[in-house]
Amino acid sequence: MKDQLIRNATLVNEGRRFQADVLLRQGTIARIAPEGIGDAGNMEEHDAGRLYLLPGAIDDQVHFREPGLTHKEDIAHGSAAAVAGGITSFMEMPNTKPPALTRELLEEKYAIAHATSVANYSFYMGVSNANIDEVRRTDPRTVCGLKAFLGSSTGNMLVDDPGTLDVLFRESHMLLAVHAEDEGMIRAGLAQAKAKWGDDIPIEEHPVIRSAEACYRSSSNAVALAKEHGTRLHVLHISTARELELFTPGPVETKHITAEACVHHLWFTDADYARLGARIKWNPAVKARADRDAIRKAVNEGRIDVVATDHAPHTLDEKSQPYTSCPSGGPLVQHALVAMLELARQDVFTIEQVVERMCHVPARMFKIERRGFLREGYAADLVLVDLNAPWTVKRENLLYKCGWSPFEGQRFHARVKTTWVNGVRAYAGGQVDRTVRGQRLTFDR
Ligand code: DOR
Repeated sequence: MKDQLIRNATLVNEGRRFQADVLLRQGTIARIAPEGIGDAGNMEEHDAGRLYLLPGAIDDQVHFREPGLTHKEDIAHGSAAAVAGGITSFMEMPNTKPPALTRELLEEKYAIAHATSVANYSFYMGVSNANIDEVRRTDPRTVCGLKAFLGSSTGNMLVDDPGTLDVLFRESHMLLAVHAEDEGMIRAGLAQAKAKWGDDIPIEEHPVIRSAEACYRSSSNAVALAKEHGTRLHVLHISTARELELFTPGPVETKHITAEACVHHLWFTDADYARLGARIKWNPAVKARADRDAIRKAVNEGRIDVVATDHAPHTLDEKSQPYTSCPSGGPLVQHALVAMLELARQDVFTIEQVVERMCHVPARMFKIERRGFLREGYAADLVLVDLNAPWTVKRENLLYKCGWSPFEGQRFHARVKTTWVNGVRAYAGGQVDRTVRGQRLTFDR
């Protein structure tokens, strides 16, 4: 592989912004030179023209639907859309078909990713009421973590057996990521809504059915169990102001309980249901403006550790069904970083904060080796963004297999110009190089 030199970039890294030339050699960042690099000799040169160079984002929650649900998405399409959006590494969830509940099934996913993923990848081991022995035998260096649905969502992977939960929290020897919504409260909320509306419940009822109280009850129970047993707990997609009291600011290395926010809960509010309907039906539900604003503040404080997508595509046909048969979730990886940079433009976050939550902290939290930072010796996972190149999300510029986005019609100021994955240009000139292959993430555990 030929050496590459990125000249005149504005690097954003570890709370600083500075000009430098960056030399890429054999997939890694060989040199970061604020003083510039003179004669390049025989290498490929890219003039960054002072645009911003960030570490590639690391998304700790995606659903790429393979195997079994590839009419919605697959790893080839999902990873290509991710790279076009500046996400160079992803961690994928187990609610595929069959669900990833054994080491063998997980290795099948790794084999698919090895053959088809443009981005770097890791997969969560799923937890069910019946696979605790398999979970016990999982080597923490082979997966990003464990995933348990404490409230049901796509894929019927609910873990509700008290004995299983007890063993899981007591014995879990690696990061346990949870979807926290109280199942009893969700069922009661749904029964009430059905009694009133039948099957065609208005979408505005979604955050009433999957209520803030249901989130709080489940997250607070999970946090209490983790405190009792010293579990390394990661609570996914926080959607309410009230849950934030369960978490503390501070360096991720000092915590055994961490939290994630997702782009849709930082962007949308319940006022958007009227315009977007079930396209913003997610579990947990998008809630009130006060919740969104509190989550934004918590991201800035570090009470929320990471920002991810929960990219979870369904077909438009599926999303057009009446409430009770319409699945929750939507595609996001292509627009998550530019949406966060749009919020930075609105002074909700700083660009440094976006890099902290989407690149640095995911790497530190999962102890990913040599990624997530612009550092010499680290993998050359990079994204070059133009903060002032407005464009509009349209169906024609979507890379998702499902072919729609909740952001259609949205104008973003930031545009991803180029994405490098392990030093290879995987996205440039508006095109994904689908021949590029990412690597399996490795962990320093
Ligand atoms: O909205 C969601 N969709 N939330 C989840 O937890 C699962 C996801 C999916 O897989 O569709």
